[in-house]
Order: sequence, then C-alpha cells, then structure tokens
Amino acid sequence: MTWPGGKNGAGVYQRIINHMPPHKTYIEPFLGSGAILRNKRPAQINIGIDRSQKAIELCKDLTSTPNHNFFYCRCGIGYLNSRTLSSDDLVFCDPPYMKSTRKGGDLYDFEMSDNAHARLLAFLVTTPAKVMITGYRSDLYDDVLSRFHRIDYQTMTRAGMVDEALWMNFAPPTQLHDYSFLGTDYRERERIKRKKSRWKNKIANMDRLERLAIMEALQSV
Ligand SMILES: C[S@@+](CC[C@H](N)C(=O)[O-])C[C@H]1O[C@@H](n2cnc3c(N)ncnc32)[C@H](O)[C@@H]1O
Repeated sequence: MTWPGGKNGAGVYQRIINHMPPHKTYIEPFLGSGAILRNKRPAQINIGIDRSQKAIELCKDLTSTPNHNFFYCRCGIGYLNSRTLSSDDLVFCDPPYMKSTRKGGDLYDFEMSDNAHARLLAFLVTTPAKVMITGYRSDLYDDVLSRFHRIDYQTMTRAGMVDEALWMNFAPPTQLHDYSFLGTDYRERERIKRKKSRWKNKIANMDRLERLAIMEALQSV
C-alpha cells in the first residue's frame, strides 16, 4: 500500500500504536491510506476522515472489522470543530506536512495552508480529547504545541531519511490500547511475541484449578 506520507513503513505504525492510551472512540481526521486505523486494535467506534474521496474509498474497502466504522469525505478540521469530544476519544492526526518543512512540492490532491495548520493546532490544544499528531518540527508546531509531550525519531521517505516528531497532549501512557506491537524494534517485538505465546501455552496446558490460581495471583501483580 503506497500513499505519500503513509505510515505503513517498517516500524512506523508500530511506534505510533505503542504510544496510544486506551480509548473508546478513535478519530483519524487525515486518513490517507489509513495505515494506523487499519493496523491498530479497533476502538468501539472508529472514524476516518479525508478530503480525498480516493482515500475514503480505499479505506472502506480495506477495513473489515465488526466494530463501528464511519468514513467521511470532508475537511478533518471542520469535522473536529463540529464535534463535542471527551477524554475517552483519541484523535490521531497525520496532516500533510507544512510546505515550509518539506523538501519536495505538493504530494496530495488536497494540501493544507499554514493558516489551516494554525486552525488545527488551535483546536488540538484546547480539546479534552487525547491527541497525537505527527509532523516535521517547525516554529509554529514548536510554539503552539510547547506543552505537549514530544518524541523525535527518524523515518524513511521517498526523499531519504528524515527527522519526524510525534506530539501528544498526555504523558507517555502507562497502559496501552493495543499491546500487539510492543517493543522498540523488530527483534524486541518478536521476542515479546514469542514470550507471550510461550507463557500463554504454558498456562493453557495447566490443570484448570492450578491455572485459575496462577491467574488470580497475576491479578495482584
Ligand atoms: C500525510 S497524509 C495521511 C497519511 C496516512 N496517515 C497514511 O498512513 O496513509 C495526509 C492526508 O490528509 C488529507 N488532507 C489534506 N487536507 C485535508 C483536510 N483539510 N481534511 C482532511 N484531510 C485532508 C490528504 O488527502 C492526505 O490523504
């Protein structure tokens, strides 16, 4: 699946999902190919928005979960402003990066002006929802999001390795919405996956009462 700026590269969606706290409603207002929405454990309600009809059709076709999914072809900023959000909602934003921070020219049928970025950030710093937003650092983002928690990392793009940032309006979570990708790199993720499977099999093969005793003991850890 290739979509300019898509988050489906190796290690990219995993890092973002590993920072998501538990939430009931998931909102992705700049959906693109929906790499995050499609890879994360669905929330009770999942909402994807993009101005591009192509993106919406693509994600509708690729998303097949029994959960409640809603897709809207419209402006993500307008959508956010039209809703009443709560701390049970997680908004993950991956807008087109500010033109001044990019090496190349336009990438999308729908780009965003600096004014639109400013309107988006103004909304994000006041909403009670949990917010995550990715982008390249700029004076505007550094200034408006100065109270957000930020992590910096490198990611591979068509133009080579670039420095990218993920801002969150919450401290690194102590509980995750989805533990499937736990681990900082492929080796660690595989190690944790094997460990989970080993422990699960071991516990599943125990005598029933012994299993319940172990599970009860684990609850108090
Ligand atoms: C960086 S891409 C998102 C990539 C996505 N995270 C993925 O993994 O494929 C940004 C998207 O924002 C969309 N977009 C641009 N302006 C928008 C707006 N005002 N409202 C909603 N979507 C917009 C573009 O059509 C593009 O698909």
